[in-house]
Amino acid sequence: MKYSKPRGTRDFLPGEMAARRYVEQMIRRVFIRFGYKEIATPTFEHLELITAKSGEDIVAHLYHFKDKGGRDLALRPELTAPVMRLYVNELQNSPKPLRLYYFGNCFRYERPQAGRYREFFQAGVELIGSSSPEAQAEVIALVNAVLEELGIREYELHIGNIGILRKILAENGIGEEVQAHIMGVIDKGDEAQLEEELNRLELPEEEKEVILGVLELKGRRGEVVERAEALLAGRESVLKELRSFEEILDALESFGVKNYHLNLGIARGLDYYTGMVFEVYAYKLGAEKQICGGGSYSLAEVFGGKPVATSGFAFGFDRLLLALEKEGVKLPDTERTLFMVIPMGRELVPYAIEVASLVRRSYVCELEVMRRKVKKALAYADAKGIPYVILVGEEIKEGKVLLKDMRAKEQREVNVEELESVLAAIAKGNP
Ligand code: HAM
Repeated sequence: MKYSKPRGTRDFLPGEMAARRYVEQMIRRVFIRFGYKEIATPTFEHLELITAKSGEDIVAHLYHFKDKGGRDLALRPELTAPVMRLYVNELQNSPKPLRLYYFGNCFRYERPQAGRYREFFQAGVELIGSSSPEAQAEVIALVNAVLEELGIREYELHIGNIGILRKILAENGIGEEVQAHIMGVIDKGDEAQLEEELNRLELPEEEKEVILGVLELKGRRGEVVERAEALLAGRESVLKELRSFEEILDALESFGVKNYHLNLGIARGLDYYTGMVFEVYAYKLGAEKQICGGGSYSLAEVFGGKPVATSGFAFGFDRLLLALEKEGVKLPDTERTLFMVIPMGRELVPYAIEVASLVRRSYVCELEVMRRKVKKALAYADAKGIPYVILVGEEIKEGKVLLKDMRAKEQREVNVEELESVLAAIAKGNP
């Protein structure tokens, strides 16, 4: 009987895995350049950590279970809550700001479709300890830097501010929990349900209109700000929120990021956001177009720590790969085998092992271990696209091997002493 893999999970084959690691490395390099340091947290956490403030939507999609000791645990659906738990437990007294990054698998029990999986990977950062406009702008600029490095061209960066809506709701006496629920409904994009929820809150008609009006504010900065000012006229504390938001945008422009859209309709599916929020869409991906999401949030105090200003984001790593594929970006196969060593007889195997070991000091090299006849071993090299073969025959006893160029179908004798420089020249021509 064959076993299939669980729904919503994937196997990654050679080649595919090499491409994934290549992209992962590129992302890491950019994170590191901005001063972020890697951390890792467990794959599962106490259920309460995740239910504390992650939002109804994510909690409804949790993989959770009891372990043999009766503890309620959950596979992590994201990494911000675990990172903030780690921060509160281990790093609260470290010099600020803390710039942390992570790369890890996450689990959400969702209906699988293209770009939406039950196990997927996130690459993200959290910047802990500063609420300055430049700190908040930095995380957005970092997203932009990664996308540029990867060479993704067709994406839109949408920036919003959840603080504006939260303020309006708070001024109408609506507490944080209900605010979070409303944000969740907005995030789902279900307009009828939103109307229903707002009616249930029995808000004055004018307030309802302002809320729905804010959600419609999308477009270029100048025009959105102008419309927002008109809509929010007379609401001083809300306008103050808008001013601080503009300071983040000013800083972002200093970072050279100018190609963004303002979108005050972004609510995010997680409860912990407090102010600036953003999402990146790659429209070519269709329904699951969001390749990155983040913003400024407040979680440390939920996990027993001192309140601290924090912002961050996570890329949907799998979706980044899909976006690259859709744009036809060719990723190099970093694990490609360049050389294969074939012994031309059983008694030559020990010599072949020695030659292969020598080649492997610098290059990817396979050794023939199937005890095939030379012809069959060459056919394998050909089928695998291995471009160069080193044949180890009797002449090895005089320090010589045969180097075969599989594409040009040429071969020449090379002294083992010269092998290193000969292979270096070949490798240079085969990056
Ligand atoms: P999120 O928007 O829930 O935010 O997830 C971040 C990214 O993960 C999404 O933009 C999406 O690309 C990807 N993603 C989410 N669910 C799936 C899925 N089922 N299959 C494939 N990809 C998926 C967060 O998780 C926050 N922790 C981000 C953050 C960090 N905010 C502040 N710091």
